[in-house]
Amino acid sequence: MEEKTFAADATVIQEGEAGSVLYVVESGELDCLKRLTPGSQENTKLRTYEPGWAFGELALLYNAPRAATIIAKTPCTLWQLDRNTFNHIVKDAAQSKRDKYENFLESVPILQTMDHYERSKVADAIKEQTYAAGTTIITQGDGGNDFYLLIEGQAVATKSMQAGSEPQQVKEYNPSDYFGERALLKSEPRAANVIAKTDVKVATIDRDSFMRLLGPLDTILQRNMSEYQNHAGQ
Ligand code: CMP
Ligand code: CMP
Repeated sequence: MEEKTFAADATVIQEGEAGSVLYVVESGELDCLKRLTPGSQENTKLRTYEPGWAFGELALLYNAPRAATIIAKTPCTLWQLDRNTFNHIVKDAAQSKRDKYENFLESVPILQTMDHYERSKVADAIKEQTYAAGTTIITQGDGGNDFYLLIEGQAVATKSMQAGSEPQQVKEYNPSDYFGERALLKSEPRAANVIAKTDVKVATIDRDSFMRLLGPLDTILQRNMSEYQNHAGQ
Protein backbone atom coordinates (compact mmCIF):
# COMPACT_ATOMS: atom_id res chain seq x y z
CA MET A 1 0.00 0.00 0.00
CA GLU A 2 1.08 3.57 -0.63
CA GLU A 3 0.62 6.45 1.79
CA LYS A 4 -1.14 9.55 0.41
CA THR A 5 -1.97 12.82 2.12
CA PHE A 6 -4.81 15.15 1.15
CA ALA A 7 -5.52 18.72 2.28
CA ALA A 8 -8.93 19.69 3.67
CA ASP A 9 -11.49 20.16 0.84
CA ALA A 10 -9.47 18.06 -1.63
CA THR A 11 -11.52 15.77 -3.88
CA VAL A 12 -10.13 12.25 -3.41
CA ILE A 13 -12.65 10.52 -5.70
CA GLN A 14 -14.92 12.14 -8.31
CA GLU A 15 -18.21 10.40 -9.14
CA GLY A 16 -18.32 9.22 -12.76
CA GLU A 17 -14.55 9.05 -13.28
CA ALA A 18 -12.59 5.85 -13.82
CA GLY A 19 -10.89 4.48 -10.72
CA SER A 20 -8.04 2.10 -10.13
CA VAL A 21 -7.34 2.35 -6.39
CA LEU A 22 -9.20 2.01 -3.11
CA TYR A 23 -8.33 3.92 0.05
CA VAL A 24 -8.11 3.09 3.74
CA VAL A 25 -8.32 6.04 6.18
CA GLU A 26 -5.44 6.38 8.66
CA SER A 27 -6.34 9.85 9.96
CA GLY A 28 -8.82 12.61 9.19
CA GLU A 29 -12.44 12.64 8.07
CA LEU A 30 -13.98 12.54 4.60
CA ASP A 31 -17.50 13.00 3.27
CA CYS A 32 -19.11 10.70 0.73
CA LEU A 33 -21.50 12.54 -1.64
CA LYS A 34 -23.64 11.23 -4.47
CA ARG A 35 -25.94 12.61 -7.15
CA LEU A 36 -29.10 10.74 -6.29
CA THR A 37 -30.94 11.93 -9.43
CA PRO A 38 -29.06 11.03 -12.62
CA GLY A 39 -27.88 14.14 -14.48
CA SER A 40 -28.55 16.47 -11.55
CA GLN A 41 -25.74 18.60 -10.16
CA GLU A 42 -27.04 18.27 -6.61
CA ASN A 43 -24.93 16.13 -4.28
CA THR A 44 -26.42 14.37 -1.25
CA LYS A 45 -24.15 13.49 1.66
CA LEU A 46 -24.32 9.75 2.31
CA ARG A 47 -21.83 9.24 5.12
CA THR A 48 -18.61 10.34 6.77
CA TYR A 49 -15.49 8.20 6.78
CA GLU A 50 -13.17 8.09 9.81
CA PRO A 51 -9.92 6.24 10.59
CA GLY A 52 -10.15 2.49 9.96
CA TRP A 53 -12.72 2.75 7.17
CA ALA A 54 -12.17 2.05 3.48
CA PHE A 55 -13.83 3.38 0.32
CA GLY A 56 -13.38 3.26 -3.44
CA GLU A 57 -13.72 -0.53 -3.68
CA LEU A 58 -16.79 -0.52 -5.94
CA ALA A 59 -14.96 0.67 -9.05
CA LEU A 60 -12.48 -2.17 -8.52
CA LEU A 61 -15.06 -4.83 -7.69
CA TYR A 62 -17.35 -4.07 -10.61
CA ASN A 63 -15.04 -2.36 -13.13
CA ALA A 64 -17.47 0.55 -13.01
CA PRO A 65 -17.06 4.36 -12.87
CA ARG A 66 -16.81 5.84 -9.37
CA ALA A 67 -20.29 5.65 -7.83
CA ALA A 68 -19.85 8.59 -5.45
CA THR A 69 -17.60 11.57 -4.71
CA ILE A 70 -15.28 11.58 -1.68
CA ILE A 71 -14.05 14.90 -0.30
CA ALA A 72 -11.60 15.44 2.58
CA LYS A 73 -13.29 17.36 5.44
CA THR A 74 -10.00 17.71 7.31
CA PRO A 75 -6.40 17.03 6.29
CA CYS A 76 -6.22 13.26 5.72
CA THR A 77 -3.66 10.50 5.58
CA LEU A 78 -4.91 7.61 3.46
CA TRP A 79 -3.41 4.31 2.33
CA GLN A 80 -3.96 3.51 -1.30
CA LEU A 81 -4.30 -0.04 -2.62
CA ASP A 82 -4.03 -0.59 -6.38
CA ARG A 83 -6.31 -2.74 -8.52
CA ASN A 84 -3.80 -5.57 -9.05
CA THR A 85 -3.06 -6.02 -5.37
CA PHE A 86 -6.75 -5.72 -4.58
CA ASN A 87 -7.65 -8.36 -7.18
CA HIS A 88 -5.01 -10.74 -5.89
CA ILE A 89 -5.54 -10.36 -2.18
CA VAL A 90 -8.87 -8.85 -1.24
CA LYS A 91 -11.44 -9.15 -4.00
CA ASP A 92 -12.27 -12.84 -3.86
CA ALA A 93 -12.51 -12.91 -0.08
CA ALA A 94 -14.72 -9.80 0.07
CA GLN A 95 -16.91 -10.90 -2.81
CA SER A 96 -17.44 -14.43 -1.55
CA LYS A 97 -18.42 -13.11 1.89
CA ARG A 98 -20.91 -10.70 0.30
CA ASP A 99 -22.35 -13.51 -1.87
CA LYS A 100 -22.55 -15.86 1.10
CA TYR A 101 -24.67 -13.49 3.21
CA GLU A 102 -26.65 -11.73 0.46
CA ASN A 103 -29.76 -13.95 0.59
CA PHE A 104 -29.72 -14.17 4.37
CA LEU A 105 -29.44 -10.40 4.86
CA GLU A 106 -32.25 -9.81 2.35
CA SER A 107 -34.45 -12.02 4.54
CA VAL A 108 -33.85 -9.97 7.70
CA PRO A 109 -36.86 -7.67 8.28
CA ILE A 110 -34.88 -5.07 10.26
CA LEU A 111 -32.53 -4.55 7.27
CA GLN A 112 -35.33 -4.22 4.72
CA THR A 113 -34.97 -0.44 4.38
CA MET A 114 -31.28 -0.75 3.48
CA ASP A 115 -30.15 -0.74 -0.13
CA HIS A 116 -28.04 -3.48 -1.66
CA TYR A 117 -24.83 -1.55 -1.05
CA GLU A 118 -25.53 -0.95 2.64
CA ARG A 119 -26.36 -4.64 3.14
CA SER A 120 -23.09 -5.62 1.49
CA LYS A 121 -21.27 -3.49 4.09
CA VAL A 122 -23.14 -5.40 6.80
CA ALA A 123 -21.91 -8.65 5.18
CA ASP A 124 -18.32 -7.35 5.37
CA ALA A 125 -18.70 -6.79 9.13
CA ILE A 126 -20.20 -10.20 10.01
CA LYS A 127 -18.39 -12.74 12.14
CA GLU A 128 -20.12 -16.10 12.31
CA GLN A 129 -20.44 -18.11 15.54
CA THR A 130 -22.15 -21.35 16.50
CA TYR A 131 -23.61 -22.35 19.87
CA ALA A 132 -24.73 -25.82 20.97
CA ALA A 133 -28.31 -26.32 22.23
CA GLY A 134 -28.62 -25.11 25.84
CA THR A 135 -25.63 -22.72 25.68
CA THR A 136 -25.98 -19.15 26.93
CA ILE A 137 -25.22 -16.64 24.18
CA ILE A 138 -25.91 -13.49 26.24
CA THR A 139 -25.98 -13.24 30.05
CA GLN A 140 -28.22 -10.68 31.77
CA GLY A 141 -26.11 -8.10 33.62
CA ASP A 142 -22.97 -8.55 31.49
CA GLY A 143 -21.52 -5.74 29.41
CA GLY A 144 -22.39 -5.97 25.74
CA ASN A 145 -20.17 -5.52 22.70
CA ASP A 146 -21.93 -7.43 19.93
CA PHE A 147 -25.20 -7.38 18.04
CA TYR A 148 -26.64 -10.71 16.84
CA LEU A 149 -28.63 -11.91 13.84
CA LEU A 150 -29.91 -15.48 14.05
CA ILE A 151 -28.93 -17.42 10.91
CA GLU A 152 -29.99 -20.96 11.88
CA GLY A 153 -31.82 -22.59 14.78
CA GLN A 154 -33.98 -21.27 17.61
CA ALA A 155 -33.11 -19.26 20.71
CA VAL A 156 -35.06 -17.83 23.65
CA ALA A 157 -34.67 -14.72 25.80
CA THR A 158 -35.18 -15.13 29.54
CA LYS A 159 -35.14 -12.41 32.14
CA SER A 160 -35.14 -12.29 35.91
CA MET A 161 -37.46 -9.51 36.90
CA GLN A 162 -35.88 -8.86 40.32
CA ALA A 163 -32.33 -9.53 41.48
CA GLY A 164 -32.03 -13.20 42.36
CA SER A 165 -35.44 -14.23 40.98
CA GLU A 166 -35.83 -17.18 38.59
CA PRO A 167 -35.55 -16.00 34.94
CA GLN A 168 -38.76 -16.23 32.90
CA GLN A 169 -38.97 -16.66 29.14
CA VAL A 170 -39.84 -13.34 27.48
CA LYS A 171 -39.16 -13.98 23.78
CA GLU A 172 -38.44 -16.63 21.15
CA TYR A 173 -36.13 -16.16 18.22
CA ASN A 174 -36.23 -17.76 14.76
CA PRO A 175 -33.91 -17.31 11.79
CA SER A 176 -33.68 -13.68 10.55
CA ASP A 177 -34.53 -12.32 14.04
CA TYR A 178 -32.06 -10.11 15.91
CA PHE A 179 -31.11 -9.52 19.55
CA GLY A 180 -28.45 -7.82 21.65
CA GLU A 181 -29.19 -4.33 20.28
CA ARG A 182 -30.37 -2.87 23.59
CA ALA A 183 -27.07 -2.83 25.51
CA LEU A 184 -25.36 -1.19 22.52
CA LEU A 185 -28.03 1.45 21.92
CA LYS A 186 -28.53 2.32 25.59
CA SER A 187 -24.97 1.74 26.85
CA GLU A 188 -26.45 -0.40 29.63
CA PRO A 189 -25.75 -3.98 30.77
CA ARG A 190 -27.48 -6.84 28.96
CA ALA A 191 -31.17 -6.71 29.97
CA ALA A 192 -31.95 -10.42 29.41
CA ASN A 193 -30.31 -13.80 28.84
CA VAL A 194 -30.36 -15.26 25.37
CA ILE A 195 -30.04 -19.04 25.28
CA ALA A 196 -29.70 -21.42 22.32
CA LYS A 197 -32.78 -23.68 22.24
CA THR A 198 -31.36 -25.81 19.40
CA ASP A 199 -27.87 -25.72 17.91
CA VAL A 200 -27.66 -22.22 16.45
CA LYS A 201 -25.57 -20.25 14.04
CA VAL A 202 -25.44 -16.47 14.53
CA ALA A 203 -23.92 -13.54 12.69
CA THR A 204 -22.33 -11.12 15.15
CA ILE A 205 -21.56 -7.49 14.42
CA ASP A 206 -19.28 -5.57 16.77
CA ARG A 207 -20.35 -2.34 18.49
CA ASP A 208 -18.55 0.08 16.15
CA SER A 209 -19.86 -1.56 12.98
CA PHE A 210 -23.35 -1.83 14.49
CA MET A 211 -23.45 1.90 15.33
CA ARG A 212 -22.14 2.89 11.92
CA LEU A 213 -24.15 0.49 9.77
CA LEU A 214 -27.35 0.05 11.76
CA GLY A 215 -27.34 3.45 13.51
CA PRO A 216 -29.59 4.83 10.72
CA LEU A 217 -32.21 2.22 11.75
CA ASP A 218 -32.39 3.78 15.22
CA THR A 219 -36.09 4.75 14.92
CA ILE A 220 -37.17 1.19 14.03
CA LEU A 221 -34.92 -0.35 16.68
CA GLN A 222 -36.23 2.04 19.35
CA ARG A 223 -39.83 1.34 18.34
CA ASN A 224 -39.23 -2.42 18.55
CA MET A 225 -37.51 -1.99 21.93
CA SER A 226 -40.63 -0.36 23.38
CA GLU A 227 -42.23 -3.83 23.14
CA TYR A 228 -39.91 -5.02 25.90
CA GLN A 229 -41.65 -2.67 28.32
CA ASN A 230 -44.68 -4.96 28.21
CA HIS A 231 -42.61 -7.13 30.53
CA ALA A 232 -42.15 -6.05 34.14
CA GLY A 233 -38.73 -5.19 35.56
CA GLN A 234 -37.63 -2.56 33.04
P1 CMP B 1 -16.30 3.72 -5.74
O1 CMP B 1 -17.51 3.69 -6.59
O2 CMP B 1 -15.08 3.05 -6.27
O3 CMP B 1 -15.95 5.25 -5.39
C1 CMP B 1 -16.89 5.96 -4.57
C2 CMP B 1 -17.06 5.22 -3.27
O4 CMP B 1 -18.03 5.72 -2.39
C3 CMP B 1 -17.60 3.80 -3.55
O5 CMP B 1 -16.64 3.06 -4.30
C4 CMP B 1 -17.91 3.35 -2.15
O6 CMP B 1 -16.72 2.93 -1.50
C5 CMP B 1 -18.36 4.67 -1.49
N1 CMP B 1 -19.81 4.69 -1.20
C6 CMP B 1 -20.34 4.87 0.02
N2 CMP B 1 -21.68 4.81 0.01
C7 CMP B 1 -22.04 4.57 -1.25
C8 CMP B 1 -23.30 4.38 -1.90
N3 CMP B 1 -24.47 4.43 -1.23
N4 CMP B 1 -23.30 4.13 -3.22
C9 CMP B 1 -22.15 4.08 -3.88
N5 CMP B 1 -20.91 4.26 -3.32
C10 CMP B 1 -20.87 4.49 -2.02
P1 CMP C 1 -29.42 -6.68 25.25
O1 CMP C 1 -29.92 -6.03 26.49
O2 CMP C 1 -28.24 -6.10 24.56
O3 CMP C 1 -29.13 -8.21 25.56
C1 CMP C 1 -30.23 -9.05 25.87
C2 CMP C 1 -31.22 -8.97 24.72
O4 CMP C 1 -32.44 -9.70 24.90
C3 CMP C 1 -31.71 -7.55 24.57
O5 CMP C 1 -30.64 -6.74 24.17
C4 CMP C 1 -32.86 -7.74 23.60
O6 CMP C 1 -32.38 -7.86 22.29
C5 CMP C 1 -33.41 -9.10 24.04
N1 CMP C 1 -34.68 -9.03 24.79
C6 CMP C 1 -35.75 -9.80 24.55
N2 CMP C 1 -36.74 -9.55 25.38
C7 CMP C 1 -36.33 -8.59 26.22
C8 CMP C 1 -36.95 -7.89 27.29
N3 CMP C 1 -38.18 -8.15 27.72
N4 CMP C 1 -36.21 -6.94 27.89
C9 CMP C 1 -34.97 -6.67 27.49
N5 CMP C 1 -34.35 -7.31 26.48
C10 CMP C 1 -35.01 -8.26 25.83
